[in-house]
Amino acid sequence: MKKIVLISALAAVLMMSGCSDKSKPAQVEAAKPLQTEEAIGLRKTTLYSEQTTLPSKTEYATNTLGSGVKYERAFDNAPPMIPHDTEGMLPITREDNQCIACHSPEVAESMGATPIPTSHFASFRPKPEIDKEGNLLYEGQKLKTTSDIKVIVHKLDELHKGRFNCSQCHAPQNVGDPLVENNFRPDYQNDTMKNRSNLLDTLNAGIN
Ligand code: HEC
Ligand code: HEC
Repeated sequence: MKKIVLISALAAVLMMSGCSDKSKPAQVEAAKPLQTEEAIGLRKTTLYSEQTTLPSKTEYATNTLGSGVKYERAFDNAPPMIPHDTEGMLPITREDNQCIACHSPEVAESMGATPIPTSHFASFRPKPEIDKEGNLLYEGQKLKTTSDIKVIVHKLDELHKGRFNCSQCHAPQNVGDPLVENNFRPDYQNDTMKNRSNLLDTLNAGIN
């Protein structure tokens, strides 16, 4: 049995490589590394152990809730990052979503929290269909070109289910020293965009 397997494996190798010598790749001498693995990249410790690699753990900001600390948005309409402690709030489950309790538009102001924006009470998911003649309809309209596609906003009376898991987009931030400083400076439309979003008003800005 072993022999048969070996022979068929050999045959497969021969078939793959072709029988003529012409297809044989020229022998290349292995290049000697100019740098050791430890010296390349940002990590200056051995790749074979995590023991000496810092930072050993991510340290999330522990600003107490209500301390008023906020991060500037990374760019216009970027999801704001969570500036407060999330101890006991994550992971969000179907039964336990404390974020909504403070950030719902009805209560947010009284809690000193930014209200969940109107964009989260809407669905941007299109409803494409094919008509009897086989034309692609987008929101009931025949499309001439795909550049006719606009983001269509379906307003909802409740939070869109796709927004339920807040921490999918809004994340607590590490306060440790970054290996590389981020020098990115956003160019906001105006200064209010540093702390507020206006997504629904600007959604189709490039198209309109
Ligand atoms: C007990 C009330 C409370 C709970 C619960 C809560 N937050 Fe907050 N959140 C606040 C307050 C108050 C602020 C304003 C900053 C501050 O004072 O801490 C805030 C700020 C934020 C911000 C920054 C908003 C901005 O405009 O920059 C985000 C994002 C945020 N929270 C997301 C969340 C998420 C996600 C959860 C659930 C994991 C959550 N929060 C749970 C009260 C709460
Ligand atoms: C799919 C990604 C996503 C999810 C999930 C999500 N958000 Fe957002 N959120 C965003 C983005 C992007 C923005 C900025 C643009 C906008 O307002 O839509 C934003 C903006 C916000 C703002 C700032 C509003 C303002 O006026 O500046 C708050 C507060 C917020 N979200 C809270 C929440 C909470 C609470 C949840 C969970 C119930 C949640 N978000 C779920 C992506 C998300």
